[in-house]
Amino acid sequence: MTASSRPCAAAGTACERNSVGTATAVFLVALAAIAALLAVYHSVNVNKLRRWLQRPKPSLVPEAHGVWDKVFAELHGHERRHTRQRRRLVHLVVGAAQAGRALPDGVVILDRSNRVEWCNGRAEKYLGVDRKVDVGRPIVNLVRDPVFVRYVESDAFSEDVRLRPARNPSLALSMRLIPYGQHRKLLLCRDVTQEEKVETMRRDFVANVSHELRTPLTVLSGFLETVQDLDLDRERTRKYLDLMSGQATRMQRIIEDLLELSALESTPVPQRDERVRISSLLAHTRAEAEALSAGRHRISLRAEGDYDLAGAESELTSAFGNLAGNAINYTPPGGEVRLVWNATPEGAMFSVEDTGIGIDPEHIPRLTERFYRVDRSRSRETGGTGLGLAIVKHALARHDANLDIESVPGKGSKFIARFPAERVVPAEHPA
Ligand SMILES: Nc1ncnc2c1ncn2[C@@H]1O[C@H](COP(=O)(O)OP(=O)(O)O)[C@@H](O)[C@H]1O
Ligand SMILES: [Mg+2]
Repeated sequence: MTASSRPCAAAGTACERNSVGTATAVFLVALAAIAALLAVYHSVNVNKLRRWLQRPKPSLVPEAHGVWDKVFAELHGHERRHTRQRRRLVHLVVGAAQAGRALPDGVVILDRSNRVEWCNGRAEKYLGVDRKVDVGRPIVNLVRDPVFVRYVESDAFSEDVRLRPARNPSLALSMRLIPYGQHRKLLLCRDVTQEEKVETMRRDFVANVSHELRTPLTVLSGFLETVQDLDLDRERTRKYLDLMSGQATRMQRIIEDLLELSALESTPVPQRDERVRISSLLAHTRAEAEALSAGRHRISLRAEGDYDLAGAESELTSAFGNLAGNAINYTPPGGEVRLVWNATPEGAMFSVEDTGIGIDPEHIPRLTERFYRVDRSRSRETGGTGLGLAIVKHALARHDANLDIESVPGKGSKFIARFPAERVVPAEHPA
């Protein structure tokens, strides 16, 4: 036994109690120290977390040890997933906006109160809406056309409405509302200006055709009644029959020209591999002009350049023939008609010049319209249908060619067809 243990042995249980107390104290101090360390550890990491939460960037998620390492790792993973999702959404939204902007039609998104939420550039242009200023404004304040206002308020959107915007009345728009999602609407605006023009032209054309055919038909049935009702002698009957035949021929010509125009519109454009022999086309045109003139005019033909045209022979024969025929028909006897062909590898032209009655400048832009005639009765006298130049223009356009018209009233006219280089091919001579 050591000297130091001796007092304890003497003191007995009191000494034992002392040493237990010391151990407890040490334990408590150690516990307090651990608790303090833990408190510091957590407080440091909580601070890190707080700082990061103020500016949460996935790349800057803090690092730590122990349980906080797991927390931060989870956070990092969560943030990365979130960022990826956000990027995908942004991509989708930007893509949708880009698609909206690229649409050929105007698009406006309206909220439940028909206020503008978004619109593309076309809609801005068509409706005079300004995206920066007008978002949040009711569409009926921006497009005030009463028909449109009624349409928006009607809640019946199966049909579209047509209107001409007040700020741009030359534009015809077709507007359609499409409800979608929860109480939202898509307003689609389509430019139908051209469509309306074509529709008007179609209506005018049908009215014109009916009128043109009805006139000879009325005359024809009038003569028929006369021949049926009156007891006419042979000579008068023959005279009436001749007049009737004239009207029938006129109707036939109109129908033939209409069919020719319709064929020009509905058949594929002549390809470049078909060759039109210019020498025979010019000879044919001249022969036809001479037959029509019956010696009343001086007709000349000059051709330069050993080239042919690529295209459809029947169409060019009709175009050249119509131009030459007009020159004869609108040139008084004794006048002159000159046919000129000039071709180089850079292009070709065929012109018909006459010393006829000429055309007032105001009529020139409209001459190629169907049934347009400067002088209706003169055209009728010459057996004209008013469709000749429309056929010429169409046939030339199908050969990439233009028609120029120069004229001086009382002096004469010149019609020039110009062909581009792509339609000119070196002439081929039969062996
Ligand atoms: N060489 C010309 N000289 C004067 N007027 C012409 C000539 N060619 C055409 N025109 C005018 O253009 C109109 C339209 O011509 P076109 O389409 O061939 O019809 P039409 O059947 O009346 O000849 C003619 O009615 C005529 O008024
Ligand atoms: Mg004619």
